[in-house]
Amino acid sequence: MLTVEKELILPPGATAPREARAFIAGRLVKQGHAAKVSDAKVITSELVTNAVRASDRLEIPCEIIVCLHDIYPGRPCIEVWDHSPEVPTYTGASDRYAEAGRGLAIVRGLALSVDWCLTSHGKCVWAVLK
Ligand SMILES: Nc1ncnc2c1ncn2[C@@H]1O[C@H](COP(=O)(O)OP(=O)(O)OP(=O)(O)O)[C@@H](O)[C@H]1O
Ligand SMILES: [Mg+2]
Repeated sequence: MLTVEKELILPPGATAPREARAFIAGRLVKQGHAAKVSDAKVITSELVTNAVRASDRLEIPCEIIVCLHDIYPGRPCIEVWDHSPEVPTYTGASDRYAEAGRGLAIVRGLALSVDWCLTSHGKCVWAVLK
C-alpha cells in the first residue's frame, strides 16, 4: 500500500531547511524509522537548501513542498518540490577549498537512490533512504 504522508508547504526562506528537517524527522519516527532520522536530516537539509536557492533565482513568489512517501516497505522516500525548471547537476567541488558543489554528492552517498523529474510547475527531487 502506498502511504503518502501529509505534505509540508514552505516559503523558500532561511528557516525552510530547519522546518523541513523537523517535519521529516517527525514523520519517520511516527512510521517507526527512528534509525533513519540522522541521515534523513542531512538529506533534507541539502535538498531543501537547493530548492530555496533555486526559488530565489526565480524572483517570483513561490513555495516549496516537502513530503515523505513510503512506497517500498522500509524504504521511505523524501520528496522536495520547487517551481524552478532548472535541474540538479552533479557539479562537484571545483577544488578542495571550494565552498559549494558537495550537497548532491553527500545526498547520493547517504541515500539508496536520488533522482528528479520535471513537472508542469517546476520539478521534484527525491531521495530513497537506506
Ligand atoms: N532544486 C534544484 N533546482 C535547481 N537547481 C538545482 C537544484 N538542486 C541542485 N541544483 C543545481 O545543482 C548544483 C549542484 O548542487 P549541489 O547541492 O551538489 O551543490 P551546491 O548547492 O552548488 O553547493 P553545496 O550544496 O555544497 O552548498 C547547484 O549548484 C544547482 O545549480
Ligand atoms: Mg546544494
